[in-house]
Amino acid sequence: MIALASDHAGFELKKEIGRYLEGLKIPYNDLGPATNERTDYPRYGYLAAKAVASGEYEKGIVFCGTGVGMSLTANKVKGIRCVVCTDCYSAMLSRQHNNANMLALGARVVGADLAKLIVKLWLEAEFEGGRHQQRVDMIMKVESGNIDFL
Ligand code: RB5
Repeated sequence: MIALASDHAGFELKKEIGRYLEGLKIPYNDLGPATNERTDYPRYGYLAAKAVASGEYEKGIVFCGTGVGMSLTANKVKGIRCVVCTDCYSAMLSRQHNNANMLALGARVVGADLAKLIVKLWLEAEFEGGRHQQRVDMIMKVESGNIDFL
């Protein structure tokens, strides 16, 4: 199950991606907001990130004007690896190498068709583990303050 969330700037793209996921028969929940009224991206970025970090959702996709505010917020939540993507290669590699569990998209940066392609590739790509697992473990050590690899 995928968690979606946005601010006002990302609202329409979130809705479009929701319809796209429906077409692909990929289940999701929209954690808000329910309208495009002006709001603050940390509110909904935090909600989605907590929902993913708790295990309630497998992955999260969040939308704002640039994707930056949402990703900064989500990455403050323990257990979250959120990537802002504006290209397909980074979208795929962020799953294969970095095991990203959240994707942030900027509605003022990427068009809807590119956003759909990024979402598809990001959801289909699988983490490769191996040497990449060791590096992801190192990221998580930085998060916990237990830095034993220097
Ligand atoms: C809202 O104007 C804008 O700041 C927000 O959507 C986002 O782009 C922030 O990173």
